[in-house]
Amino acid sequence: MSPTTTMIFLSLQLITSFLFTAIASSSPPGGFTIDVIHRRSNSSSSRFSITDDDQLGSPYANTVFTTSEYRMKLQIGTPPIDIEALIDTASGIVWTQCLPCLSCYDQQDPIFDPSKSSTYKEKICDQDPNNPCRYEVTYADQSYSKGAYATETVTFQSTSGQPFVMAQTNIGCGHNNSVTLSPAASGIIGLDRGASSLISQMSQNFFSFFSYCFSRKETSKINFGSNAVVSGDGTVSTTMFRNTEKPNFYYLNLDAISVGENRVETMGTPLYSLEGNIIIDSGTTYTYLPDSFCSKVKDAVDSVVKVERAAFSGDMLCYNTADIDIFPVITMHFSGGADLVLDRYNMYDNTGDNYCLAISCVGPTEDAVFGNRAQNNWLIGYDTSSELVSFKSTDCSALY
Ligand SMILES: *[C@@H]1O[C@H](CO)[C@@H](O)[C@H](O)[C@H]1NC(C)=O
Ligand SMILES: *[C@@H]1O[C@H](CO)[C@@H](O)[C@H](O)[C@H]1NC(C)=O
Repeated sequence: MSPTTTMIFLSLQLITSFLFTAIASSSPPGGFTIDVIHRRSNSSSSRFSITDDDQLGSPYANTVFTTSEYRMKLQIGTPPIDIEALIDTASGIVWTQCLPCLSCYDQQDPIFDPSKSSTYKEKICDQDPNNPCRYEVTYADQSYSKGAYATETVTFQSTSGQPFVMAQTNIGCGHNNSVTLSPAASGIIGLDRGASSLISQMSQNFFSFFSYCFSRKETSKINFGSNAVVSGDGTVSTTMFRNTEKPNFYYLNLDAISVGENRVETMGTPLYSLEGNIIIDSGTTYTYLPDSFCSKVKDAVDSVVKVERAAFSGDMLCYNTADIDIFPVITMHFSGGADLVLDRYNMYDNTGDNYCLAISCVGPTEDAVFGNRAQNNWLIGYDTSSELVSFKSTDCSALY
């Protein structure tokens, strides 16, 4: 970012960071609720013929980084068409822009044309052939996608060398879409715990593991199945919790944040919990913390950093310096001894002439979010069968 765009970058960052932390719309007018149209089934009538992960290999997708978001490359339709969609562990629907567009935004890859795919099939609702299913999803920043809910073939690469084909995957074919991101991805891959997410649709027949390793350089990978297990020296794990009001998020429990040697406890603040108090989210850039605890963390940083505060930094804690090394190292302490000693890049963001703490304070009713910037260069595995998230410090660009 050039220095002249500092403020724009900052505010853009704030807006895009709020993206995808929540699905606001549960039931569109005349629409459907997703749980109704998707039932878990482990019967032999499975639409997949092979269920052995070893024979299938582990599916994976290449990932790319653009500005503040991570995307995965996959293919949809028959013949398969490339799309590049945002990886979002805090939303549930898999969707891509589709022709014909009522209203589409500009995207890099050509827009998917379902009329040219032999496997595209709109779902029907209430067993009424005259009632095709619609979906509508709205994100926290008012981005949205609306269109036909359909089944389509989704294809990944696989360690077996053969493509990994997921027939009849539920996807949204978006005919009216709007996102604030730029450059814009073709769609969003929801990976939350909800029944329509990609990982839930996979786990129905295959497995319930995925892992990613976000690198700000080059490409990296998101893995599924046996290759997604995170283990070995330096691996730490923490329990994932389910919040009854927001059952689809992956909640972790944050005990404290250390700023240098100064350990700031959540205990004594409203954030304190034993059963999950922060969402791990690949689709949000910064980390968000509620004011009461957040201000303690900011104070701890500010008491160490001796350079001048930047003017016009809004809610962010920014300093007039080009030297990241003056900042204290931050450690996130998750329950069960998962202490993540973060690189300064994870926690301090260069915005032109300034460095800002990549933590934003939010109101007491808003969710705490562990964002993708903080997750950079950690191999992070989600295991929904044992309810664990594992972390391993990794140079993600060197992994592949
Ligand atoms: C489906 O899975 C459940 C839970 O794992 C198990 O109790 C049940 O027997 C399975 N049903 C079939 C048909 O395999
Ligand atoms: C697309 O959806 C938006 C938001 O609901 C709506 O205001 C707009 O009229 C729709 N556009 C078209 C062309 O249907």
